[in-house]
Amino acid sequence: MAEILAAGEKVKIKFSEKEFSFPAIIGTEGERAVDISELRAQTSHITYDPGYANTGACLSSITFIDGEKGILRYRGIPIEQLAERSTFVETSHLLIHGKLPTQKELSQFSQKLTEHAPLHEDVKKIFSGIPKETHPMATLSGMVSFLSGFYPTSLDPKQDEAQINESAAQLISKVRTIAAYIYRKSVGESFVPPNDTYSYCANFLHMMFSGRKEKYILNEEAVKALNLLLILHADHEQNCSASTVRLVGSSRTNLFASIAAGICALWGPLHGGANQEVMEMLEQIHTSGKGIEDYIRMATEPKSQLRLFGFGHRVYKTYDPRAKVIKDACYRLIEKFGVNDPLLEIALKLERAALKNEFFITRHLYPNVDFYSGIIYKILGIPTNMFTVMFAIGRLPGWIAHWKEMRDFKPARIGRPRQIYTGRLKTDYVPIEARTGT
Ligand code: ACO
Repeated sequence: MAEILAAGEKVKIKFSEKEFSFPAIIGTEGERAVDISELRAQTSHITYDPGYANTGACLSSITFIDGEKGILRYRGIPIEQLAERSTFVETSHLLIHGKLPTQKELSQFSQKLTEHAPLHEDVKKIFSGIPKETHPMATLSGMVSFLSGFYPTSLDPKQDEAQINESAAQLISKVRTIAAYIYRKSVGESFVPPNDTYSYCANFLHMMFSGRKEKYILNEEAVKALNLLLILHADHEQNCSASTVRLVGSSRTNLFASIAAGICALWGPLHGGANQEVMEMLEQIHTSGKGIEDYIRMATEPKSQLRLFGFGHRVYKTYDPRAKVIKDACYRLIEKFGVNDPLLEIALKLERAALKNEFFITRHLYPNVDFYSGIIYKILGIPTNMFTVMFAIGRLPGWIAHWKEMRDFKPARIGRPRQIYTGRLKTDYVPIEARTGT
């Protein structure tokens, strides 16, 4: 840690004419922070930062984002290079273990994923008690939480590195099987066991679609597209769900339960749930006959609750680099699969109109990762209500990497923000018979 702290540099803060100084922290890419961990002790003030927009909650060496320049790197490697040359399994290893694997390490990691792919018969039985209409994200978070019951060693807060890596491999492998079974259950089809001879992504598509009535061809292009999407989703530093995983894990909650909490955080429409919203929005524009300009107007009216889903980002103030890669992939797939999807045309027009609109320009709102990802998932045959589950499969290695980093950080402290109380002053209890009106 020593090399990233700016030796001796202090930031001065004045409170009621008294000056206090706090150490500066400078990251390896030059990001600057004020270490205010002694602020309250020295000044009796805390900081107030709704939505944590200016709060650095940790030091992290996993992912670097420059939101102004549109840069995203996992463990230093640009996302564009990983998207073009890596696989999801290799990228997972990179995130979780901090480096690209050697051939031997990759084989061992893949072998672990293969071993853990089948679900215990009792896990499969849980599906039968879940209503068919349950949202897939509810089932996914519940099933992941239940998994801790099948691997009791994961509950031990003193788990060693090897045990944690075992839990990590179990999760990465089983979440894929669970996701496929959630889909099979929703369409009333029997479960398809994993096939040892398939790669991670091919196996997922196999468990999803093999034997289905409508024809599905497991081809290389589909596998490649899925790898690409999962890589692009694999981590994004301190987003809402990764921060949730860290916060939940900080109370020494086991990895499975912490990830289940992350899945719930991802579900919301302002985060991972946006990909489902984007597709529903495009479909609504398509079927309602409403013009694109109408939609943009509704999303930009003062006090409007409507948002243009797939647009805007807390960190990116330029084009999301992931959206760029996905948009290109969309074109390639549409050509390769010979599909003619009117929704892509609508998305392109919507993007063009928004990028020319004063409201979006002044607020630096650009397409994010969710804007085009749904179109690819649709081409792959994945239904809209499964989109956020796909995001969760992709984000899993990132969550695990953050959980591990949080756990290894010293001093280990439970995450516990403070507040500014704005309620009533001391008020005496009034018995119910004496209470009137309000
Ligand atoms: N459509 C219309 N207006 C928007 C949008 C949008 N998509 N995004 C932001 N704005 C506006 C807000 O209304 C606000 O306007 P104001 O200044 O007039 O009040 C301004 O831009 C700033 O918005 P905030 O909500 O304060 O920005 P914040 O950084 O908190 O939120 C977020 C970021 C949640 C991603 C937001 O842009 C949004 O809701 N986008 C749509 C949902 C979405 O696509 N989420 C996926 C994000 S990527 C991911 O999680 C994987």
